[in-house]
Amino acid sequence: MTTTHPLPTAAGSGANASEAFRASAGRVGAAGTDTERVSLLVSSTLEAVHAVIREHEVTYPEFQAAKAWLMALGEGGEWPLFLDVFVEHEVEQVAEKAQRGTAGTIQGPYYLPDQVRLPAVATLPMRTDEKGDRLVFSGQVTDLDGAPLAGAEVDFWQADADGYYSGFAPHLPDGNLRGVITADDEGRFAITTILPAPYQIPTDGPTGAMIAAAGWHPWRPAHLHLMVRADGHRQITTQLYFSGGEWLESDVARATKDELVLSPEKRDDGTHRVAYDFVLEPA
Ligand SMILES: [Fe+2]
Repeated sequence: MTTTHPLPTAAGSGANASEAFRASAGRVGAAGTDTERVSLLVSSTLEAVHAVIREHEVTYPEFQAAKAWLMALGEGGEWPLFLDVFVEHEVEQVAEKAQRGTAGTIQGPYYLPDQVRLPAVATLPMRTDEKGDRLVFSGQVTDLDGAPLAGAEVDFWQADADGYYSGFAPHLPDGNLRGVITADDEGRFAITTILPAPYQIPTDGPTGAMIAAAGWHPWRPAHLHLMVRADGHRQITTQLYFSGGEWLESDVARATKDELVLSPEKRDDGTHRVAYDFVLEPA
């Protein structure tokens, strides 16, 4: 007899993402934005909305539908999901213009801090019967001059082979496929994990309803999430994708970059292996 587990729902996932963001807001800190800047950003946002209304002659029923949808988005806890999928990529690209070192990309809604700490060569926590091809992901963390950053941290999280994240899907154990690896004295690390699967962002909530109503697709290509940090250096938040992967060219979150695509090599033992090095700029 097999045990059945409740499948994740958009509401459950959205509530967890909202809670995780609230918990992290203290770490992010208040923007401290001055009155002039707030006025500029809010009025520009409203002008952009007004321009859409004029250009496309938005009707009252459409306006009311948008209002109802925005209310549902909040009630479903999906603001983090919606903003991270449809807006964060632009903020990241603005930030990137002033950055050197390894390219970043969006963090997304599924990061959880304070995961298990692991040595430089480690296997991510996973179920004994974890599905998916094994992946050994290794690399080195250096500064802009190529000097190794001893003890750098690689904070790693990913979806499982069904496209679900622990902490956001009730059938997964807490901490599954998450961990903080401390690189060795040469900044090197090697993580054994599984190949993640592409996944759909939750389709049974208001974000999914909007995607369906617009006739879009809800897929993200398979990816690994990482934050790489070392004392005195700017933390990188990024994702790594897989060459030839489905949805790589049409990521719903528009978060792919050519330089973030891996090409793992499949060994005779069935294990996929790939290396990727990270370069951090001074903080
Ligand atoms: Fe993801």
